[in-house]
Amino acid sequence: MSTVLEVDNLRTYFFTLRGVVRAVDGVSLRLNRGETLGIVGESGCGKSTLAWSLMKLVPPPGRIVSGTIKIDGIDITKMSEAEVRRKIRWRKISMIFQGAMNALNPVYKVGDQIIEPLMYHMGMEREQALSKAEQLVEAVGLPPEILDRYPHELSGGQKQRIVIAMAIAMEPDIIIADEPTTALDVVVQAQILNLMKRLHKEKNISIILITHDLGVVTELSEKIAVMYAGKIVEFGSAEEIFEKPLHPYTQALIRAVPRLKGDIHKLEYIPGTPPDLRKPPQGCRFHPRCPKRFEPCDKEDPPLQEVEKNHWVACWLHVKR
Ligand SMILES: Nc1ncnc2c1ncn2[C@@H]1O[C@H](COP(=O)(O)OP(=O)(O)O)[C@@H](O)[C@H]1O
Ligand code: SF4
Ligand SMILES: [Mg+2]
Repeated sequence: MSTVLEVDNLRTYFFTLRGVVRAVDGVSLRLNRGETLGIVGESGCGKSTLAWSLMKLVPPPGRIVSGTIKIDGIDITKMSEAEVRRKIRWRKISMIFQGAMNALNPVYKVGDQIIEPLMYHMGMEREQALSKAEQLVEAVGLPPEILDRYPHELSGGQKQRIVIAMAIAMEPDIIIADEPTTALDVVVQAQILNLMKRLHKEKNISIILITHDLGVVTELSEKIAVMYAGKIVEFGSAEEIFEKPLHPYTQALIRAVPRLKGDIHKLEYIPGTPPDLRKPPQGCRFHPRCPKRFEPCDKEDPPLQEVEKNHWVACWLHVKR
């Protein structure tokens, strides 16, 4: 299997008047072509910032401060904005932004919102773009008439399908979906996940699914990365992560999902909240909330180590010395 995305030691910070927010702080990841990866973690752990970094669309006052992001072996952190726009963004890697379905422009018909980028980015004539738009909505399970409607005439599920149609317009190798089902009810959630699963299979697209809800990733992801306070704390196959979670944070996340192990389990919350990323705790960033912390935990940051084949964890309990 060939590697389509390789992230090494990525750091993306926000330089605010009130301090430097270390939102992504040394993240490394690898994704094979056609593979699905779930990135999970509570709100505020840096998931969206990681996604924006991969698109090279970090909003100011944020910027990538170090590390590399290789797509098909080419480091996009070294590329100019013009080059990224011409060769990479939407073409090789595209994104369904968090909340995008509610950000469709209310005064334009859906069709125009799909057609415009096709004309602008792909240089299509209007007629050609219209026919491509029809194919795209069909691919996401919508009738062509929908192109003539305004966003407010669509259900939440239909709007999310439109956003997905836009993300696949230029046939990217990778799609990042940032909380794509969060605002939807459970039935529609399942339909959207099925649609993404189908696109992944039919078009061999790699999908990075970002969510705070571990229940959602089980549907779609072969690999899982658990993110806490700007870092990946555990990484492995979905099976390994669910059957044998090693990091106390992953264990707590799994315990907090009632439907994974049937409804017998009562919902357990993780006490406390993720830290302020302007001043993350010293040592393991999870230590103030960790029931298993011990002597080294508040002093030094545990390295992310491969403890079993293809199963990585950053926790002093598992560090091989
Ligand atoms: N535009 C911004 N300016 C300053 N800080 C930001 C900005 N966007 C996000 N952050 C901060 O970066 C951290 C990570 O946020 P985010 O990437 O949105 O996390 P998640 O997607 O996991 O909820 C948070 O502390 C958040 O407040
Ligand atoms: S390193 Fe220590 S504090 Fe951090 S998760 Fe492991 S046991 Fe808990
Ligand atoms: Mg987010």
